[in-house]
Amino acid sequence: MSRVIAVVNQKGGVAKTTTVANLGVALAQAGQRCLLVDSDPQGSLAISLGQDPDSLASHTLYEAMVLADEGAHKDLKDVILHDQQGVDLIPANLELAAAEIDLNSQYAREYALSRLLAPVRDAYDFILVDCPPQLGILTINALVAADSVLVPLATNYLALRGLQLLLRTVRLVQSRLNASLRIEGLLPTLYDRRTSHHQETLQEVRRIFGEQHIRVFETVIPRSVRFEESPITGTPAVVYAPNTPGAQAYRELVQEVLINA
Ligand SMILES: Nc1ncnc2c1ncn2[C@@H]1O[C@H](COP(=O)(O)OP(=O)(O)OP(=O)(O)O)[C@@H](O)[C@H]1O
Ligand SMILES: [Mg+2]
Repeated sequence: MSRVIAVVNQKGGVAKTTTVANLGVALAQAGQRCLLVDSDPQGSLAISLGQDPDSLASHTLYEAMVLADEGAHKDLKDVILHDQQGVDLIPANLELAAAEIDLNSQYAREYALSRLLAPVRDAYDFILVDCPPQLGILTINALVAADSVLVPLATNYLALRGLQLLLRTVRLVQSRLNASLRIEGLLPTLYDRRTSHHQETLQEVRRIFGEQHIRVFETVIPRSVRFEESPITGTPAVVYAPNTPGAQAYRELVQEVLINA
């Protein structure tokens, strides 16, 4: 049975997609069977892995999850891409933006992703879900389908704001929809060790969440231009620049995630 990890933060640009792509491919490099699910209409995950989400008409998460009741795709295998980098991918594109409206009228709308993934959970060791920068119905679906939530967190003061709202949402999902959901950990990202403000924020994060018994990963993802370049190459940094500190950090994260099993 796979572990489903939702990668969530309603704040934009904190490296959710970068984390799903790099952690996913690094897990695959470590021999784990991985399915990556793009639950963001921006379609960035597919692009990061070298796929053009706009050319995938009617073969995306939207058809499989949102239009499933209309028989659009009975077989999930129709929409799973086998990526060259050793991971499987359910892509998304702008069509998924309609999910907010379409799902609202559906029965048990919070369980659409959970239902969709149930038949393939035995085929993978890990399923990672990339969420959009909102706490809307797509993110709630990811939290309901997940065993745990991983929160990428940029190490500056403004990025910390809003985290309590996210944790409240997680607790709400735990109490009403998915009692077994746990927090995998907070992952400091975009860290610039030469900036004292970043060092102080990281210390604060470890202190505040340590007191709340919420895990903060030992691994810290450094800020590096390689991460910005790599989507152009259609490969994540662990493939594009494997010997850089950033790629090494994601491989260390793999070890922490595996130990946490
Ligand atoms: N460690 C890093 N160092 C430098 N740039 C990074 C790093 N991680 C991610 N980036 C860059 O920051 C930008 C935002 O990253 P990413 O798209 O992964 O964030 P996101 O949280 O998924 O954003 P959104 O909320 O829009 O989905 C991208 O241009 C990405 O290449
Ligand atoms: Mg993203």
